[in-house]
Amino acid sequence: MDRIRIRGGNRLVGRIAISGAKNAALPLMTASLLTDQTLTLTNLPHLADIATLASLLAQHGVQVSMNGDAPNGGHSGRALSLTARAITSTTAPYDLVRKMRASVLVLGPLVARAGRARVSLPGGCAIGTRPVDLHLKGLEQLGARIELKEGYVEAAAPGGLKGGHIVFPTVSVGATENLMMAASLARGDTVMVNAAREPEIGDLARCLNAMGANISGIGTDTLRICGVERLHGTTHPIIADRIEAGTYAIAAAITRGDLELVGARPELFEAFLECLKRMGVVVTTTPDGLRFACTNGELVGVDVMTEPFPGFPTDLQAQIMALMTTVQGAAMITETVFENRFMHVPELCRMGANINVHQASAMVRGVPSLTGAPVMATDLRASVSLVLAGLAARGETTVNRIYHLDRGYERIEEKLAACGADIERIGGSA
Ligand code: UD1
Repeated sequence: MDRIRIRGGNRLVGRIAISGAKNAALPLMTASLLTDQTLTLTNLPHLADIATLASLLAQHGVQVSMNGDAPNGGHSGRALSLTARAITSTTAPYDLVRKMRASVLVLGPLVARAGRARVSLPGGCAIGTRPVDLHLKGLEQLGARIELKEGYVEAAAPGGLKGGHIVFPTVSVGATENLMMAASLARGDTVMVNAAREPEIGDLARCLNAMGANISGIGTDTLRICGVERLHGTTHPIIADRIEAGTYAIAAAITRGDLELVGARPELFEAFLECLKRMGVVVTTTPDGLRFACTNGELVGVDVMTEPFPGFPTDLQAQIMALMTTVQGAAMITETVFENRFMHVPELCRMGANINVHQASAMVRGVPSLTGAPVMATDLRASVSLVLAGLAARGETTVNRIYHLDRGYERIEEKLAACGADIERIGGSA
C-alpha cells in the first residue's frame, strides 16, 4: 500500500491549478442514467472515486469513454462521455457501492428512468452513521415503493414517479441531488423545501436544465422541479473544487507561504475565506484565481463551526484544525454536520498538537511546533489534514493508507512538491 513521506518545514510558494470538483462530478455522472443520449462532462478530476463510479455505471449499461488529452499530461481536465442507451441492470451491487457512499446517487435516476432499482446500502468514509433515510422518504413521496431486503434498498415505481412536496427535516446534499434527478423525470411538479444549497447542487441543476429539465430556485433552499417526459444529452463543464482549493489555501497558511490557486472562485467558499482572513492570512483575488499569503505577521486562532452551505464546510474541518494547531492562541472547532468526524484528532496529537475534544467541539491550543510521526487516517479529509500537519512539522511524517487521499485529491504530492514541499509517494507495503 502506498504511503506519503513528508519532510516538513518548507515554505510553499507558487501556483497550483485547482481541479474539477469531485462532489460535483459524482452526481453529474449519475445524471447520465436519466437519458439515452450522451452526457459529456469536461474539467474532470482524475480520482479513484471517479473510476469507482464509472465501473458502477458501466455495469448498469452506461458506455463510458474518456476523451481528450489533459493539458498537463495527466488525466486532469479530460472529458468523460457517458451514454446510457439502455439500462441493462438496475442493481447496484454491494461490492461496488461499499467503496463509495456517493454510489447511492444512482438510486433516484434508476427509479426515474427504469421504474425500479435495487441498491446496496452504502459504505464510504467512516464518519458517523450516515443514514440514507431522507433519500428513501423523499422517493416515497415521489410515489416509489421502498423495501429494505438483505442489505439492499429495493425501490419500485412501475407506473413512473409523480411530483410531490418534500420538506427535508435536515439539510442533506445527497438527498437533494438524488431527489432532484428523480423529480426531473416525474409526472408533475415537485417542490423541495429546506434543500441543500451547496454549489455542487447548483452545478447539477444547471446541467439537468441543459439536458432539458425544468428546475428553478437554484442556489436557494426551495427548489421547484417541473417534471419532463425525457431528457437529452449535453456537454457540461464541472465547477472548480472548493474543498481542494481550501485545502491548498491551508497548505499556504500552515507553511506561512504564498500560493496562487488557479481557478479558485471566492463565491464558492466565502465563510472559509472569512475565517482565514480573520486568522491573518492575506487573501487577494488575482486574474486567474485567488492568492493566499502570510505576509501580515503571526496567525491567530479563530473559532469555527461547520454548517451546511453557505456556512463553513465540514469537508474543510480537519484541515482547518491542523492549521489551528500551529497558530497563536486557541480555537474552538465545532462539528455540526457529522457525528464522529474527529478521527484526525488523536493522530494530530501524536504529532504534538494540543487538542481536547468534548462532544461535538474540539478545543485547539496552538503549539510552537508540530513534530513528524508515522500517522494513519480513516477518511479522506482526515488524511489530508495529516499531510498538511506534516508540511508544517519538524522532521519526517509518513502518512499511511493514502488510498483515502487518492479518492479525493488529484496528484497531491506533485502539486505540493512543485511549490517547494519535500514530499514523495512511496510504493509498497505499509
Ligand atoms: C456530501 C458530500 C460530503 C460532505 C457532505 C456534507 C458528496 C459526494 N459528498 O455527502 O463530502 O461532507 O455532503 O457537506 O457530495 N443524513 C441523514 N439522512 C440522510 C442523509 C443524510 O440523516 O438520508 C445526515 C448525515 O448523516 C449527515 C448530514 O445529514 O449528518 C449531512 O449529510 P449529507 O449532506 O447527506 O452528506 P452526503 O450527501 O453524504
